[in-house]
Amino acid sequence: MRVLWVFAHPEPRSLTAQLRTAGIAALREAGHEVIESDLYAMNWNPVVTAGDFAYDGVERLDVAEESEAALRTGRLAADIRAEHDKLAWADTVVLHFPLWWYGMPAIMKGWLDRVLVQGYAYGVRDPESGRTRRYGDGAWQASAPRRWCRSAPMPGWDRAASTAISRRSSSPCSTAPSSTPAWR
Ligand SMILES: Cc1cc2nc3c(=O)[nH]c(=O)nc-3n(C[C@H](O)[C@H](O)[C@H](O)COP(=O)(O)O)c2cc1C
Repeated sequence: MRVLWVFAHPEPRSLTAQLRTAGIAALREAGHEVIESDLYAMNWNPVVTAGDFAYDGVERLDVAEESEAALRTGRLAADIRAEHDKLAWADTVVLHFPLWWYGMPAIMKGWLDRVLVQGYAYGVRDPESGRTRRYGDGAWQASAPRRWCRSAPMPGWDRAASTAISRRSSSPCSTAPSSTPAWR
């Protein structure tokens, strides 16, 4: 597998970080390739702003529409594009975080907010039927992660925008080869 391990904890000596170290070591020992997005270490900016899209400010900012326009025209912020490059490389994504107030730390939520933009992860139309596909049925169909795993249950979030991710990862992360896209 080619694994992108997205990690969110500020302290390298935490239980969560120890699990990260052990998990990545085990994957590599088993012959898998692993790259990391260590969000605190990267000083990842979790806040969506108009600056993500080189937005000109003329019309009301529609975040979803503007993010798709920026995606199409190569105007997305460089840190978002760097994450897209990692996702294009990976066939498996691990979202690893401690449970904070029944959900993920803000820095991880902000990774999802900023990286999974419209036209890339959602809001993609089927060219034949014209219907909007389910979350994740877009750019990832051909080249992108087939497995998403997360480290903790997230009530509410599971039933909302993360439908595709949670569907894939509501049970412990499968290591079995996937013959169908993760999102189906
Ligand atoms: C801000 C904050 C919120 C937390 N919320 C929850 C929670 O909702 N449910 C839970 O079981 N544990 C919660 N915890 C406990 C953490 O999940 C736990 O401390 C952590 O996963 C294990 O410790 P580590 O920080 O050394 O990795 C919370 C901890 C913090 C700091």
